[in-house]
Amino acid sequence: MIALRALGAEDAALVAELQSDCADYIALETGQAPGPAHVAGFFDDAPPGLSADQIFAMAICEGERPIGLLNWSQGYPETTDAYIGLLMLVPTARGRGIGGEVLSQVIRAARNRHCTRLLLCVFRDNPAALRFWQAHGFRHRQTTPPATFGARTHIRDELSRAI
Ligand SMILES: CC(C)(COP(=O)(O)OP(=O)(O)OC[C@H]1O[C@@H](n2cnc3c(N)ncnc32)[C@H](O)[C@@H]1OP(=O)(O)O)[C@@H](O)C(=O)NCCC(=O)NCCS
Repeated sequence: MIALRALGAEDAALVAELQSDCADYIALETGQAPGPAHVAGFFDDAPPGLSADQIFAMAICEGERPIGLLNWSQGYPETTDAYIGLLMLVPTARGRGIGGEVLSQVIRAARNRHCTRLLLCVFRDNPAALRFWQAHGFRHRQTTPPATFGARTHIRDELSRAI
């Protein structure tokens, strides 16, 4: 069973461990090896103008075992929008449909908070993730100008779907 568990600053070591297991994705995003700056980035990554009770930093757990990280928020860019900042599974948990289960849980939680749309950004350099989101009904909304993430510069496609 896949469960989502809220994370706080006291869980920094767990976040570091999961990011270390996901060094491939951290490298894709930043061109860097996982480190303390990425742990801080996970907790700080939130759209502008939201309060702490609108931001959800979570561990994805299979039974008791943490297998990934999730970060989403409610209220940006419109008050009835939800935004996924990160959905990242450790390599051994990928390709088994778990991402879809996590997405279903985010949609349920977002609907409970009266959200009617879900958005996210995907790096142009991550075509497997783009296929995943498209398979789950997300469509292209806009393309962002190049932006810097650690040592890398990315163009991102923002996707959205009604929920
Ligand atoms: C993207 C992600 C959330 C999708 O969740 P998932 O549970 O793996 O999704 P699925 O089981 O539906 O598989 C999705 C794709 O991963 C492929 N896949 C299978 N095994 C895999 C593995 N060991 N590693 C990576 N991808 C794998 C699947 O074949 C499928 O690709 P396809 O579109 O070519 O068919 C997850 O793979 C992940 O965390 N990837 C790394 C981080 C990332 O890219 N996050 C998204 C940021 S926008």
